[in-house]
Amino acid sequence: MKKMTLGVNIDHIAVLREARKVNDPDILQALYVACESGADQITIHLREDRRHIQDSDVKNIISLSKVPVNLECSINREILDIVASLKPHRATLVPEKREEVTTEGGLDVFGFSSEISYAIEQLHDALIPVSLFVDPTIEAMEQSKELGAEMVELHTGHFANLFNMLNSALPYSNHSVKELELPRYELSSRLEQALEEIKKAATYANKLGLEVAAGHGLNYQNVHEMMQIEEICELNIGQSIIARSVFTGLSDAVKEMRKLISRHV
Ligand code: PXP
Repeated sequence: MKKMTLGVNIDHIAVLREARKVNDPDILQALYVACESGADQITIHLREDRRHIQDSDVKNIISLSKVPVNLECSINREILDIVASLKPHRATLVPEKREEVTTEGGLDVFGFSSEISYAIEQLHDALIPVSLFVDPTIEAMEQSKELGAEMVELHTGHFANLFNMLNSALPYSNHSVKELELPRYELSSRLEQALEEIKKAATYANKLGLEVAAGHGLNYQNVHEMMQIEEICELNIGQSIIARSVFTGLSDAVKEMRKLISRHV
């Protein structure tokens, strides 16, 4: 079994900083603590609207990080020029809508195939390997390979929503996922199906020679399900780690996740 890489997404540290526009909390301190506590990779997203991570953060994080930096970005030409010049260890192409709260759904690898293929070429010319953040379907795996990516990150948001609606207080809160307000047997069967889709996509992508990561909505309760899927070798996790860090400190939050996803290889 492959070692599981933990990519800690520290965007939310910048969300908190930007709420006051002061350098507090300091993202470079978060970088240092995450690396010291077991992060194998740092993941950040340079959004077009710069709502959290700024260009200078990317530059500083890349130059100071002790572990590889996975930079998420859209296929916007201006952003790609910046990413190509900053040279992260890897770029992950994600869809982006200005009004969204977070990345909702995978890249449309069919509708934007020429733009994605152009983006991959540009990043490869800058010697940056590329991952595509996609929904876990066989078609998306085939198309990702066809477009020239070396890696896919499977979008686990649907799985995570189902898991939370079934196993947490989410349905009784303001943030209940309306379209998933369903009987428990129905949620249970959909959760099984969602997990099966992730497994099938991971196995297929692996056969095609793609590296396989997963991310979105993963937390201390649901991450064990991802650990059962041998082909997945990387998890990118943000919200749950940063949320826990409010109570435990970032170091313990990262260490606890690291412990949960350690494979004995
Ligand atoms: N992977 C990708 C591609 C993402 O866009 C995000 C969210 O920024 C994550 C992983 C982390 O998701 P979460 O914050 O829900 O753990």
